[in-house]
Amino acid sequence: GVTPKIAPSMLSSDFANLASEAKRMLDFGADWLHMDIMDGHFVPNLTIGAPVIESLRKHTKAYLDCHLMVTNPIDYVEPLGKAGASGFTFHVEVSKENWQELIQKIKLKGMRPGVALKPGTPIEEVYPLINSENPVEMVLVMTVEPGFGGQKFMPEMMEKVRMLRNKYPSLDIEVDGGLGPSTIDVAASAGANCIVAGSSVFGAPEPAAVISLMRKSVLE
Ligand code: DX5
Ligand code: ZN
Repeated sequence: GVTPKIAPSMLSSDFANLASEAKRMLDFGADWLHMDIMDGHFVPNLTIGAPVIESLRKHTKAYLDCHLMVTNPIDYVEPLGKAGASGFTFHVEVSKENWQELIQKIKLKGMRPGVALKPGTPIEEVYPLINSENPVEMVLVMTVEPGFGGQKFMPEMMEKVRMLRNKYPSLDIEVDGGLGPSTIDVAASAGANCIVAGSSVFGAPEPAAVISLMRKSVLE
């Protein structure tokens, strides 16, 4: 079976106080820390890279769930492996030719490979990566256009989650974008078990309550 993983998106945190923000989220019950790595090219925004992951790693043993919104993910494998990243989720849109090599390298560097897809990308595109000899261990279904926090959840994406869950009962399926108390039930009942949430957690008066509510919803 699949277990719930609640992953606050550190994109909504105070980057100037990343270590204490991470500790705060873990104290509030977070399972993973979702780290949005953007290159200003695959998406129109620029965030953090391996040096920041390396710095954060010195302050926490937590699972660092890295989401690579970059055009050349292969260039990030070695630096992120060294930095202490836990999960390495690349986008299928930029990895059409070399995904087998990419997955192998991610594993070789001790990270867990995942594949993400943008709202406009059909779910069929990730099937070969799950059925391969070296499979991805998680699929991230984007529920907003990648690039920014605080956008509106796209319920139409739940069809992708349902199709994946029907085919792969024990696969980790992550949803990212616009998740919070008002959207979690739709995502959980479609079959998502890894829940990324930025603005709904960091913007809440009681983040711990939001985290536990979302975990309960996945378990139901
Ligand atoms: C968007 C990022 C998300 C984002 C989620 O490109 O991948 O992880 O931070 O933020 P919210 O939960 O506010 O939509
Ligand atoms: Zn993300």
